[in-house]
Amino acid sequence: MPESWDELEAACKACTACGLAEKRTQVVFGTGSREAEVLFIGEGPGQQEDLKGEPFVGRAGQLLDKMLVAVGLDRSKIYIANIVKCRPPQNRDPLPEEQDACLPWLRAQTKLLAPKIIICVGRIAGMKLMKPDLKITREHGQWFQRGHVLMMATLHPAALLRNPNQKPEAFKDFLALRDKIKEICTHTP
Ligand code: URA
Repeated sequence: MPESWDELEAACKACTACGLAEKRTQVVFGTGSREAEVLFIGEGPGQQEDLKGEPFVGRAGQLLDKMLVAVGLDRSKIYIANIVKCRPPQNRDPLPEEQDACLPWLRAQTKLLAPKIIICVGRIAGMKLMKPDLKITREHGQWFQRGHVLMMATLHPAALLRNPNQKPEAFKDFLALRDKIKEICTHTP
């Protein structure tokens, strides 16, 4: 695996490790600060992300941005990536074999970034990275220590668009994130 960001990004953008490569418009590698102490990990690109080549730029992404702003966090100071880098057809959940094929890219990104905090955005990322039996509706907002990294799963903004009554619960997760950043991060606002 390449050990610099630029080489990693170039290699990832040429990936054909699973069937998702056939239908993609673009690989959605990830965006944000390569100095970030906080890494957000979603599930996979949707239509807008596939077209723009950037994570969380569609409706769910706009809600994510609003929630970050609401707790005083600057999207450009965090790093955002996904479990799979290519859009699953009709936005279906990425298959376990697609997640496994893509995971080495995310692991390499995580190694380069060395974040203090990882936020799993939604059930798929939470189950893959934190706890295979994660019950997102019950366990979102809880902190888990994994090695040197603190991890939390939060409700996916796409789920919040479908169930707006869950927004206050998700907002609490973002407030807890803000407090944790103040406690343990050195250069994240
Ligand atoms: N949903 C995700 O999980 N990731 C994106 O990049 C966009 C929507």
